Amino acid sequence: MKTYITTPIYYVNDKAHIGHAYTTIIADTYARFKRLQNDEVFFLTGTDEHGQKIQESAKKNNTSPKEYADKISNEFKQLWKNLEISNDYFIRTTDEKHKECVKKIFLKMYEKGDIYKSEYEGHYCVSCESFYTKTQLLENNKCPDCKKDTRILKEESYFFRLSKYEKDLLNWYKQNPNSIFPTSKKNEVIAFVEQGLKDLSISRTSFDWGIKVPLNDDKEHVIYVWLDALSNYLSALGYLENEEKMPFWQNAIHFIGKDILKFHAIYWPAFLMSLDLPLPKCVAAHGWWLINGEKMSKSIGNVINPLDIVNEFSNDALRYYLLSYMPFGNDGDYSKHLMVEKINSELVNEFGNLVSRTISMAKKYFNLKLSFKDKIYEEEKEAKEFFNLSIKAIEELKFNDYLSNIFKALKIANSMISKYEPWALIKTNQNEVESLLISILNIIKNACILLSPVLINSTNKLAKALNIEIKYDLLNTFIKEFSLNECEHLFSRVELKEEKMLEEKTQKQEEKAQNDHITIDDFAKIKMQIAQVISCENVEGSEKLLKFELDLGNEKRQVLSGIAKNYNPKDLVGKQIVLLSNLKARTIFKHLSEGMILSAKNQDESLVLLSPLTPCDNGSIIG
Ligand code: MSP
Repeated sequence: MKTYITTPIYYVNDKAHIGHAYTTIIADTYARFKRLQNDEVFFLTGTDEHGQKIQESAKKNNTSPKEYADKISNEFKQLWKNLEISNDYFIRTTDEKHKECVKKIFLKMYEKGDIYKSEYEGHYCVSCESFYTKTQLLENNKCPDCKKDTRILKEESYFFRLSKYEKDLLNWYKQNPNSIFPTSKKNEVIAFVEQGLKDLSISRTSFDWGIKVPLNDDKEHVIYVWLDALSNYLSALGYLENEEKMPFWQNAIHFIGKDILKFHAIYWPAFLMSLDLPLPKCVAAHGWWLINGEKMSKSIGNVINPLDIVNEFSNDALRYYLLSYMPFGNDGDYSKHLMVEKINSELVNEFGNLVSRTISMAKKYFNLKLSFKDKIYEEEKEAKEFFNLSIKAIEELKFNDYLSNIFKALKIANSMISKYEPWALIKTNQNEVESLLISILNIIKNACILLSPVLINSTNKLAKALNIEIKYDLLNTFIKEFSLNECEHLFSRVELKEEKMLEEKTQKQEEKAQNDHITIDDFAKIKMQIAQVISCENVEGSEKLLKFELDLGNEKRQVLSGIAKNYNPKDLVGKQIVLLSNLKARTIFKHLSEGMILSAKNQDESLVLLSPLTPCDNGSIIG
């Protein structure tokens, strides 16, 4: 069976983020699943490079639209390579082949009478590259989709007879339950079309970055960017050129975000009807990844780069999180915290640890070679039910149910270990343990096969350990003999980088505090006393030093202190100061100094002597 799977072609005016990665990973997973089922798959992605939006972005970046498009298109290509996306082809709307195809499509519709010339007067949103009627606009003529300002356009324009296809479109939605998925989105589209469709302006004259209308007298018209872009799905198959790949068109599924549903569920099928081509089997529109409830955008600065996640965790972990977290069609808040929780509880504990425990028991008890000994475990059949549900779910594009059912089967395998306690059973019944491990290994084998479209690297590792080939047919085979290989951990526990950094910082601070601080015993070694200045004079030969004679109550001391720049010696006589009195005596400038007078240092380095707030006994102990 031939299956055609597409992503939207991404605008080259922005850096890719996890929203773009989400669509591409969904399409990649589905493509890998269909290949697993032995379908012949053609999986397409690419970049959308024409239009006013790109022309304006290029201008802002002081470059030509083509140079700008080349750079960002390459970045997308590289990103998909780094994310191990298995696309069969990467299309660019600036490809010559594509441009030729779009012109032929335009002419075919024109010759059919579905295109006519008139004048467009209305509102245009450059960000969405979309026309709106006055009644569709929000307050202050804002775009109903992206909420940005719209521009008033009055241009001569070619129009596509969209209104002509209104009834046929409604029939298509109603007669084909899967035409648009999820159903809630299909109902929105039906309600929109039922309000009536106006003909669609499909050419522009106020800028020139696009494919020229292929009619001799109208070279200043460029083809509307959405007609250009949507046609990529046909041009990539060689439509109206070399049509070798066109059989894929019989079974096409378009994965898109809900933001571009109108173009794919209304305009595109109408264009296809005009071309007398079959309609796609399904237009599947997923929801949005939000950050704290807000749309990701460069201007808000909340854009998440998928490669940062891959570098911090792994590509398998990113794919698993994006697909398992929210039901297809719903919006969801991106949370790194939840991603870490999911990786640790599901990938590490339920899957990775199950594999490690099973293989290590197989090694310990059977030296990695096991053969079935007739004991049937019912749990293995229960697990099979969940695998069947998982297949049904992915066929219905319910990616989170597909994964959760596989994990329900893995839970059964984990519970078999705790229920039958093979470490105890081995002492009395080796055969039963061998059959038990074989049953568990069969559950792991099925999980490995069914998870291979998502966990692309770890299931490869696991297949080597199980010594199996990842093949769909193997799902229905109960393997009776295993000759295993040892396997390193499939997943390692992860921590939030931010939390890890905080923990390390706190630990360092604590260590530093340990080193910087003294204990109470250390403090007890210090003796400070109040002393009164009996006399004070400058030290000959030193600019800094003053020599003090001090009264400590029952003894007198001579102490030198480096505060000559801050005090006049005469002013200090009679004052009480603080003395570190058990400091070893030393000789400074030939004078004995028996202690240290304490002072505080200002920011400008000047010194201030410490003194009790009210007079006290000379020799009083400080502490
Ligand atoms: N060029 C058009 C598509 C033409 S297809 C013939 C376009 N490009 S885009 O670069 O804006 O990409 C839009 C797609 O990126 C969305 O439809 C969606 O698939 C994906 N996403 C972009 N941001 C997203 C989120 N925040 N969340 C989920 N997906 C989003 O529109």
